[in-house]
Amino acid sequence: MTRAPWSREPGEVGEIPTMVSREERRYLHWLGRTQWQDHGHVLEIGPWLGGSTVCLAQGMRAGHAAPRHALHAVDNFRWREFMARYARLPLAPGDSFRPYFERNVARFGELVRPRAAVLPDEAIAVDEWADVTRAKSSESDAPFEWDDREPIEILFIDGAKSWRGMRHLLAGVVGALKPGESLLVAQDYKHWGAFWVPLFLQHVADVLTLEHDVRRGSTVTFRLERELPLERILALPDHVGALDVQLAAHALAQAADRLAALGDDLGAAQVELGAAMLALHRGDRARASEVYRRACATWPRGADDHALRNAHERLSLSGVPELTSPPRISRLARLKRRLLGRA
Ligand SMILES: C[S@@+](CC[C@H](N)C(=O)[O-])C[C@H]1O[C@@H](n2cnc3c(N)ncnc32)[C@H](O)[C@@H]1O
Repeated sequence: MTRAPWSREPGEVGEIPTMVSREERRYLHWLGRTQWQDHGHVLEIGPWLGGSTVCLAQGMRAGHAAPRHALHAVDNFRWREFMARYARLPLAPGDSFRPYFERNVARFGELVRPRAAVLPDEAIAVDEWADVTRAKSSESDAPFEWDDREPIEILFIDGAKSWRGMRHLLAGVVGALKPGESLLVAQDYKHWGAFWVPLFLQHVADVLTLEHDVRRGSTVTFRLERELPLERILALPDHVGALDVQLAAHALAQAADRLAALGDDLGAAQVELGAAMLALHRGDRARASEVYRRACATWPRGADDHALRNAHERLSLSGVPELTSPPRISRLARLKRRLLGRA
């Protein structure tokens, strides 16, 4: 396999906790340094404590001495219990972690502009995990909005954690994205539990070109060739429960095929496994179980099985029946994978 052009970029974030992989960090730096032309802003959705933000900002600085546009970092900045797995901070669920984010990015001054806003998430009763991680309607955060007059050159999405949130985000930025130029960087594209990301982008695949596939991570990037069709986005239901499930499963399979055609068999398998989460969110546990079992049987040999193990845990938690443990990969393969840099 040829080396990715970002493989030698810096990807260190010091003490800042991050949920993105080392290769993704290098990629974000490269993106800011070489792909961003300062023709518009970088909009980051879901920066958490700033690990990804720092990589983007460092890259932007390295490529542009006196930028005219900024890196806008939008998050609801609400601490959730699962975050404690990645960072030990004296915070309770619901508390704001914005002060930590601000401290971590302070050295970039005006280049990084935090903004507290929320993407609306629908509640999914059958998915315990979604319930823990999603925005709560009881929290009175400002809804995400974007001014069309502020062009977006790079949209980095790592905070659209629901079908509804993704729909709201895309509908909100249509007018600010620049056809022929803007990049849509979807961090969750290959995350099996975030099926709405590949599904939405597949739905508008005719106006996008796949540009980058980060192999040791779940990020896939698209260039916007023509304007995003707002009417088509809004014609999709606001709740995942109203989706045409056959069409959705077909779209996921198409998204997976695109990755397989690039030689990314693991990415393709992860996107296909997303059909299990789709089935669960539709309340169809039997189908979720079937998709999971098929994924276990067809998983690329010796490949990272993190997604399968995570699926086993989350689907079990939600009462999906007949889940056998994922096939074991060798300790050597696991060690190799760790050394090669999953965060
Ligand atoms: C996976 S973390 C992002 C990790 C980060 N990019 C990094 O480098 O570590 C997702 C982020 O999205 C934010 N988020 C999740 N749901 C959101 C919502 N509905 N509205 C706004 N922000 C949300 C979370 O607060 C969290 O900071």
